[in-house]
Amino acid sequence: MGVVFEEVWQLPGNSVPRFHNIQGRGLGLVGPIYRECVKNPNIRFIWNTEVKDLIIEDARVVGVRIRQLRTQKEQSYRAPVVILATGGFQSNLDMVRENWPKGLQFPDRFLTGSGINSTGLGHRMAREAGADLSNLHHQWNYVTGLPDPRHPGMNRGLQAKNESSIWVNAQGRRFVSEYDAPQKNFPVLMEQKPATYWAVFDEGSKYDFFVSGSEWVDFKHIQKVIFDNPDLVKTSSTIEGLAGLTGLPEKALTTTVRRYNKMVDKGVDEDFRRFGPGLSYKPRKIGQSPFYAIQLFPMTRKSMGGVVIDMSCRVLNRRQQPIPGLYAAGELAGLAGINGKAALEGTFLGPCMITGRIAGRSALAELKIKPKPVAESGRIHQASKTLPVKAESADCKDCHDLESLSAKLRTGYWHFKKTHRVVQERKYQCGLCHAELDPYREKNHQIEPLARLENCAICHGVKK
Ligand code: HEC
Ligand code: HEC
Ligand code: HEC
Repeated sequence: MGVVFEEVWQLPGNSVPRFHNIQGRGLGLVGPIYRECVKNPNIRFIWNTEVKDLIIEDARVVGVRIRQLRTQKEQSYRAPVVILATGGFQSNLDMVRENWPKGLQFPDRFLTGSGINSTGLGHRMAREAGADLSNLHHQWNYVTGLPDPRHPGMNRGLQAKNESSIWVNAQGRRFVSEYDAPQKNFPVLMEQKPATYWAVFDEGSKYDFFVSGSEWVDFKHIQKVIFDNPDLVKTSSTIEGLAGLTGLPEKALTTTVRRYNKMVDKGVDEDFRRFGPGLSYKPRKIGQSPFYAIQLFPMTRKSMGGVVIDMSCRVLNRRQQPIPGLYAAGELAGLAGINGKAALEGTFLGPCMITGRIAGRSALAELKIKPKPVAESGRIHQASKTLPVKAESADCKDCHDLESLSAKLRTGYWHFKKTHRVVQERKYQCGLCHAELDPYREKNHQIEPLARLENCAICHGVKK
């Protein structure tokens, strides 16, 4: 379909490379599949809509009840089968807590770092239909959460780390091998009092600081939104100064840094075996002023348990029998349960894609429908092939006052608001993304899905 696999990475915890990297990141994977769907006139996308409940008649799932978020209109969609693919529940902190693994402390401050809609909706609906759920305590959480400055007051986290930093707890001491995989250092962080730490590094490794997500590829953006924000990053010309700014005990912090630098000279981490003979990590000293300290927190990420399915992705009830008409795929189905309690980078998205494919094929087989070859449909506008073009004539702002439209958060307009705030900041012309509507022609004035897709990369793309 045009997805380009670029390279395979081996990340900490893996014995072989498993992380398949895709050109264009998430968009490079989802875009081509979406493009293929849009070509097929049988497939219809309905956006900004929340599913409320499954419709169940005579013990069979026969559709969903929905609410259109923008109009608040409720209605039903009937279907011979329903495939749930609502993601995990790691953005629902109550559900995370209810299913917290026994024997592990629950952190005082736990950021949420899963998709904003990964709230366990499908889990609830499947349960109401009688589904069995398993291993909800199998959760893959990170130790590298930075409070997300883009969502103040929402307790959202960004995944952020600097592989050259040392991590010190509130007592000013290192407590773990910073280079380890989450299954090793997450439980250790939970034992710290409190369960948070400061990543300490120097000017020499400043540019090793990494934030996950296509928005953060350019370090200038990281500088502006993170390093220039004194709530997030403490900077000082001395380690003592850092202690003052962070409230970490000065003596402990200076001792920790001095000891670490000595061990780097010796070539052995005698405390936590982060580096040394036979180990691949190449350490660097923390010595070049200015120095930085960034406080990081545990952060939720992925659900590895979920709705129980069989090999055809049919949802099973507590007697392990299929619930007629109901399928589930992806993280909702606990990534098919292949990961157990811990996982490896590169073993999450694969099972999601594969269960989606199996669920689709099983549903077709149950309904005895042969997949039709994908046809070019008339829905594709010519304009999409010549994008982007310059806006010229009609003044879009006469009818669409972006300022007032994105001033308040209207339900169902979350992404609209996010998008057009960027448009305003960067002073983009409307025609850059809406060329197919430009100039204004009443009959042609509707969103054309493919043209839109061409422009996602303006904000979600990866600079080469
Ligand atoms: C960089 C790309 C980009 C630019 C430039 C842009 N938009 Fe958009 N626009 C989008 C995207 C993406 C969406 C879909 C948002 C969503 O997910 O709801 C959208 C949706 C819209 C919608 C539809 C809202 C709805 O009801 O769904 C309107 C109206 C709109 N844009 C107006 C404008 C106007 C007016 C301008 C110029 C001032 C503009 N846009 C500039 C990307 C852009
Ligand atoms: C004469 C008024 C008028 C002008 C000028 C105008 N629009 Fe619209 N536009 C509308 C109306 C009316 C709608 C439908 C509103 C709705 O459905 O809520 C609309 C809808 C849209 C949508 C959403 C379409 C969809 O399928 O949901 C986008 C995007 C959009 N306009 C962009 C633009 C851009 C870009 C321009 C400038 C080239 C522009 N409009 C100029 C009146 C106008
Ligand atoms: C003008 C910039 C812009 C364009 C164009 C744009 N987006 Fe976004 N998008 C954003 C911003 C900003 C966010 C919010 C990031 C955040 O604050 O978490 C976002 C968030 C998202 C999210 C994350 C939602 C979640 O659940 O966490 C998805 C998915 C997404 N966009 C998809 C798309 C797709 C698909 C397109 C093309 C149709 C698109 N975007 C076009 C700016 C844009």
